[in-house]
Amino acid sequence: MDASDADRGFSIEPGAGGLPSLRVTARDGSFAEIYLHGATVVSWKPAGDTERLFLSRVARFGPGEAIRGGVPVVFPQFSTLGPLRQHGFARRVAWEFVGVESQGERRAAVLRLQDSAETQRDWPHRFVAELTVALEGRSLAITLAVTNTDSGPFSFTAALHTYLAVADAAQTHVEGLAGLRYRDQAASGSIGQQTAARVDFPGEIDRLYFNAPPELRLIDAGRTTVIRSAGFPDAVVWNPGAAKTAGMTDLEPGDYRRFVCVEAVAAGAPVELGPGEKWQGTQTLLA
Ligand code: BG6
Repeated sequence: MDASDADRGFSIEPGAGGLPSLRVTARDGSFAEIYLHGATVVSWKPAGDTERLFLSRVARFGPGEAIRGGVPVVFPQFSTLGPLRQHGFARRVAWEFVGVESQGERRAAVLRLQDSAETQRDWPHRFVAELTVALEGRSLAITLAVTNTDSGPFSFTAALHTYLAVADAAQTHVEGLAGLRYRDQAASGSIGQQTAARVDFPGEIDRLYFNAPPELRLIDAGRTTVIRSAGFPDAVVWNPGAAKTAGMTDLEPGDYRRFVCVEAVAAGAPVELGPGEKWQGTQTLLA
């Protein structure tokens, strides 16, 4: 970073696999790193604090790959709920850097993905997607906005697939989901109901909760992270557990204990957009 970059509060440097990595530092010292590949936020450190996102030490960084960890952007298909590859293409392609805006203490990076011949092969629609990653105080707010630039309507599902670093998943729980119906993706998509006040992680957990409240809490060894969402009606709580992790080449064997995913999701009902219409959803993490 040279002096002018430091003044602007950001720099773009070659990261893992030579992929461009955008590093943003707010005035109070809080920090985020975002790969243009997939617009994947891979690091968030609130001022004076430790890393709050999990990034696998054996994550794959390269064209066509999805980075394992951070906050992958899932669009235009959540999971296998459609004909595309799991979680769609947005996390596997290069996004364009638009800029970094500063207003008071807030510093926000904006990245953009537009349809191309490559995306059209998968999904024959014209769109503009923008991801805004905003640092302010002890919060990280990530907004995904999608505009239909086509002449006809389209529908999609989407998520911000946030990997939160925890000291030990077995000692971690999520609060705020009691009473909700969920699709249990670890049990062939059967429908369940959350009766307990908290979701614990005794093994594999893969649940799509419908109509989740706007605020959840992750309690990890006495530390609380508040997870807010707006515009994303649903939430996914995911941890692969030991057996699934053993079959994943981009995680180390013990990694299932080092993170839990709490995802802001729009998948219970697809988002429908007419020509010229725009949708947006935000997930905010408060340390
Ligand atoms: C979660 C899904 O959102 O993502 C899980 O609910 C899936 O079913 C997980 O296993 C990870 O997906 P991927 O494609 O990154 O391995």
